[in-house]
Amino acid sequence: MTSKLSITPIDKPIAANRQAAKRHFGVHPYFTRRPANLVREYILHYSKEGDRVLDPFGGSGVTAIEAFLENRVGIQNDINPLANFIAQGIVDLSKGSLNDYRAALELIRKNSEERLSEVNSADEVRLQEIRNAVNLPDNVQLPSNSDVPYYHDLFTPRQLISLSILKDEVDRIENRYAKQGMLLAWSATLAKLNKTFLSANGRAKSRGGSSIFSIYRYKVAKDPVELPPWHTFYERALNILEAKREIDSVMELKKRTGKGWHGGFEMHSLDVEELSSKMGNSVDYIFTDPPYGGHISYIDLSILWNSWLGISPSLETRRKELIVGGELRIPEEVYVKRLADCIKACVRMLKKNGWLSIVFQHWNIDYFKAILSACAEDGAELRAAIPQVGDTIWSMHKKKNKQSVLAGELILTFFKSGAALRPITHRKFDVHAAMREILSLNDSNRMHGEYLFNRLVIEAWKNSAIDSLNISPEEFINQVESYGWRYDDRNHYWIKADDNGLPLLGSDKR
Ligand SMILES: C[S@@+](CC[C@H](N)C(=O)[O-])C[C@H]1O[C@@H](n2cnc3c(N)ncnc32)[C@H](O)[C@@H]1O
Repeated sequence: MTSKLSITPIDKPIAANRQAAKRHFGVHPYFTRRPANLVREYILHYSKEGDRVLDPFGGSGVTAIEAFLENRVGIQNDINPLANFIAQGIVDLSKGSLNDYRAALELIRKNSEERLSEVNSADEVRLQEIRNAVNLPDNVQLPSNSDVPYYHDLFTPRQLISLSILKDEVDRIENRYAKQGMLLAWSATLAKLNKTFLSANGRAKSRGGSSIFSIYRYKVAKDPVELPPWHTFYERALNILEAKREIDSVMELKKRTGKGWHGGFEMHSLDVEELSSKMGNSVDYIFTDPPYGGHISYIDLSILWNSWLGISPSLETRRKELIVGGELRIPEEVYVKRLADCIKACVRMLKKNGWLSIVFQHWNIDYFKAILSACAEDGAELRAAIPQVGDTIWSMHKKKNKQSVLAGELILTFFKSGAALRPITHRKFDVHAAMREILSLNDSNRMHGEYLFNRLVIEAWKNSAIDSLNISPEEFINQVESYGWRYDDRNHYWIKADDNGLPLLGSDKR
């Protein structure tokens, strides 16, 4: 890559490989984690070594960590303390020695083994005695849509006590980095040793996940599974050791080749607009995915971790979360206005001629309009819009309502030329004609609904007509069916049918 001006935008989807990077996959769960291989390709394409690469809605830190490993300065920002705890925890795996981590794990085993086995076999009276003697987290109130009212109700007595014993042992580790790595393993264990853990049907009891990440609320299992505490922690700790080994070897390789190792990492825990006041226009590239409206209330759902780790955000911080609803009932109008303001803040943080990639998906066209208009008004031109489809994250919601729930995302990439313009948005748009055209130009008999929908949004925007694109999920589905396409439930794409309604088989899907 020579100059930022001469970059030709990425114009094809990148196949996601979610499980490839041990430093992200399996270390600690978080919401809507982006595939590291995709993020890395965007970073390598739109920035060069030494550049400052920011993710203002950084989540578990994939962007900043990959930038750091690729000899950029990775800048992580998130308003949710859990997100920064995970991101910092992963980056710090680059510090300290593997032997120190192993020794820490062994020490935790030695010091907790007997006590954990006593908890396992204790009767109720003894359990109560042990419970009175251990450090328990505050019994805070949970969001009102939870199945149970208080924090402690999320655990069986054995789970609560075992987690407390393990945490005490982690806290006693002396080596700073080994201790932090073990705390990350403990925090990942917390996701499994509680009553929101739902075992996957027909698989080992330990396979499955917390309802926090699939249903996005504290749903308690009808018949909670009690996974063995030591084994569960030990497996998470082994994942941490694997992640460390991987990070060490990536850095070792860099040190031995090219210009050596000079990656940097910065972290902030600010609302995006506040971050922009602090940063000025010092950023070379931004890759980010902001919250998509009301699906996930990140801070409410992170109480499980923030509370026990002692990092709960203040009410003032919670009010700045960019979501719809949640426990603070944030209205949709506030979200849309703030989404535009936060995107403008992102554009401000970029240097002139810098690039910005935003990952987004939603049926509500106003959300897309907020992003596209904010960029245009502040001098960032849309240069690429790539539907990343076919990589479905199977949330419960998606499993139940396959056609009407959007999966996959659109990656919008902008170039900050500085030429601000007032976008025209109210021209007439014939949705059906546009839909027919996109379908007819498709050289395959299969198409993801998300691909079609995202293309429609971009067509409407380019025709200065985004205000005229009002289409509900139901209308969209009816319309696609009326053109002779039918939904393939198993594969989650649309198939062109022949005159008898049977699928026409043929080339690849989009
Ligand atoms: C879609 S997630 C990002 C996930 C991330 N891409 C990953 O791979 O883990 C959006 C993030 O925005 C954060 N967030 C919400 N409102 C914010 C705000 N006002 N300022 C900064 N971060 C915010 C949430 O805490 C959440 O972690």
